[in-house]
Amino acid sequence: YNADKGEFKHYMLKEIYEQPDAVARTLDMALESTETAHSYQLRDDFLQRHETQLSNIRHVQVIACGTSYHAGLVAKYWFENLIRIPCSVEVASEFRYRNPVVVDNSLVICISQSGETADTLSALREIQKHSPTGLVSLALCNVPTSSLVRETDIFLPTLAGPEIGVASTKAFTTQLAALMLLVLKTGVTQSCIDDERLYTLLENLHKLPNQLHASLNLDASIKAMSESFEDKKSCLFLGRGLQFPIALEGALKLKEISYIHAEGYAAGELKHGPLALVDKDMPIVVLAPKDSMFDKLKANMQEVHARHGELFVFASEESKMVAEDRLHVVYIPDVCETLAPIVYSVPVQLLSYHVAVMRGTDVDQPRNLAKSVTVE
Ligand code: G6P
Repeated sequence: YNADKGEFKHYMLKEIYEQPDAVARTLDMALESTETAHSYQLRDDFLQRHETQLSNIRHVQVIACGTSYHAGLVAKYWFENLIRIPCSVEVASEFRYRNPVVVDNSLVICISQSGETADTLSALREIQKHSPTGLVSLALCNVPTSSLVRETDIFLPTLAGPEIGVASTKAFTTQLAALMLLVLKTGVTQSCIDDERLYTLLENLHKLPNQLHASLNLDASIKAMSESFEDKKSCLFLGRGLQFPIALEGALKLKEISYIHAEGYAAGELKHGPLALVDKDMPIVVLAPKDSMFDKLKANMQEVHARHGELFVFASEESKMVAEDRLHVVYIPDVCETLAPIVYSVPVQLLSYHVAVMRGTDVDQPRNLAKSVTVE
């Protein structure tokens, strides 16, 4: 095992650093360069066998657990905003037991690193039992030989390579990359994405591995930031829009490996509860790219600051946020709004990692947790 970790102290850190390559591999499934005016296009053979199935779907239902569920939450924004296909996302353990409605012509996307998560599998089987008209099931999965892949109509792989650390990192960012490819492919198949948007996104996708690489270069500043968290009891992660699921994921990572209580919140909900918790002892991590939600988010940050909360902000340089008393800023490389959740995943992973190492926990094998949960 140790040999596999190479120069890294933990599998988790190694896997965080593998993300530029893992995402590049995943993107290569679908992206190719062209000699035409547009530099990139979707490869003809990407999901080609499934074009008829994709052309008929009218609704998307995502089912997943843990980190994979958070990838689904990002996909909901993409499906609805980019190609106007309604998308619901639910944790498998709830979906399975509440007699849910699956409308006709649904694409059911099961997201799972392992493909063996019992709740996800049983939720899928429950839907298949009722066989709604036009049902198409898809496994977004990192293990081609898994049960989930065997039991679904379409297999969309993440090419993350084996993930050993219990806390998922490269599986998550490759899930996001693959979901974006699926949204684009569906958009093209149904002619519901305009060309300009498509080609801009393809170009931006091509840049993604380099941006992930650049965000890894922030490791030292994030490590320095993490020192403020070592003795904390509780922590809040805030984001809006596409960054809300990343706030949830950041909180999950911190809980899992550092054992510090953390909550992810949609920043607009702050005033409906968590603001009451804010004091000088609770760090607040904010995901703040300069996007269409930035001004609103800034107002939320001011509410926290005015109540003596200490802010740790991941922002783009363009946001012109400057550090001051109780306001720490790390600049994240510029990335287009749509793909920003993929890049902003890296700093929250690194933050949790360094906090956990400082607190001396078993980073790769946190207490009470398992990599693959094969019991309900
Ligand atoms: C466990 C793991 C998490 C993972 C979740 C879902 O809780 O510790 O890292 O996100 O299962 O696993 P899956 O393999 O279905 O993605």
